[in-house]
Amino acid sequence: MTTLRDAAATVPATSVALERFAALARDKAIVVCCGSGGVGKTTVSAAFAMEAARLGRRACVVTIDPARRLANALGVAELTNVASPIEGPWPGELHALMLDSKGTFDDLVHKYAATPEQAEGILANRLYKNLSGALSGTQEYMAMEKLYELVEEGRYDVVVVDTPPTRNALDFLEAPGRLTRFLGHRLFQLLLMPTRAYLRAVSVAMQTLMRTLSRVAGAEIVQDAITFFQAFEGMEEGFRVRADRMRDLLGQDSTAFVLVTAPRDDTVEEARWFADRLGESGLSVDGLVVNRVYPRFAVTPHLAPAPAGSALAVLETNLRGYQAINAREEAACGDLVLHLAPAPVVRVPLLDIDVHDVDGLGTIAGHLFGAPTARAAARREPAAPGPSAPPSVPPSDAG
Ligand SMILES: Nc1ncnc2c1ncn2[C@@H]1O[C@H](COP(=O)(O)OP(=O)(O)O)[C@@H](O)[C@H]1O
Ligand SMILES: [Mg+2]
Repeated sequence: MTTLRDAAATVPATSVALERFAALARDKAIVVCCGSGGVGKTTVSAAFAMEAARLGRRACVVTIDPARRLANALGVAELTNVASPIEGPWPGELHALMLDSKGTFDDLVHKYAATPEQAEGILANRLYKNLSGALSGTQEYMAMEKLYELVEEGRYDVVVVDTPPTRNALDFLEAPGRLTRFLGHRLFQLLLMPTRAYLRAVSVAMQTLMRTLSRVAGAEIVQDAITFFQAFEGMEEGFRVRADRMRDLLGQDSTAFVLVTAPRDDTVEEARWFADRLGESGLSVDGLVVNRVYPRFAVTPHLAPAPAGSALAVLETNLRGYQAINAREEAACGDLVLHLAPAPVVRVPLLDIDVHDVDGLGTIAGHLFGAPTARAAARREPAAPGPSAPPSVPPSDAG
């Protein structure tokens, strides 16, 4: 195994790609990491923010990860809806927060309500209590809301957003629009009319409908709905203006979208879908991270056939297995790489550690940005970077 380990090397990222990734961490004001669940988005987001802090910038990373992965990756016990500083050996600042979408929605209601009473009325409403958690796209929208709030605060040089681990992650692109459309909806407008005057004016058919609704859904629920909509009166404009500004923010040059994928057909397909959705919104991918790539072995041994059953024969079989996986992984992401060109592509190897502290993140950062420490380490030991001990080739498919 020692021979293989020494020969281990990952696909060398071109220094140009590393430099372009480093430039994203150095220059951008917003970095949005997208990709399907489990590919390493949270890890990459944290690494981006950490790299920015290393470059002397004030960085904040926002995660929506319900699994507390970011807190875990940063080696802290807990994160809240308010940014908390992460201590570390960097000249800049690193802050992190975990999005609480309900809390963010509540803050928003406070912000846009004309009076504290209006805000309290909404927050106490049963429908709101359910809706603020369940309205489709709420989480995605609130992530953008939080992003906007952080950018507006001007407290940070860069805000990194880790999107939710679902296909709906990019709903935030249209979520602001959806919320304002919802608030501008005709039914909503109707319900906003003072109830009595409105009920007098509407047709018998409508009254029958309302009665039926009350019978089916319960009079209380219908009343809740009416008070809910009435409570929002006058707030749509604030939401609309904010949604437009948010959309502008995402389209600016200072915003970067980084797509994260695993070198497997299914996640690559998802990544492609994300890229196309961004494209439909007039946005583009500024960098692709292919994460958890199997190690590559630079040497192709030209040895006499090893005696069957010998240790060498085992190694050879192992090596061929790796090479087959390497080829399959490259085949899986080749089209995507071409599709996203000229976006830079960085391949991060499958590490033999779980990334759960600042050191682990530093290793990831080294692969993403060619950070100074990683480069120095690579000069000291020629085999690095790469996993310290290659795992055995899995019997069947790596992915
Ligand atoms: N290059 C890597 N090598 C080894 N483990 C990794 C690598 N990247 C991420 N991980 C691990 O994979 C798991 C999922 O990563 P995470 O960033 O939480 O994914 P996501 O946010 O996309 O769901 C975590 O346990 C993390 O430590
Ligand atoms: Mg995550």
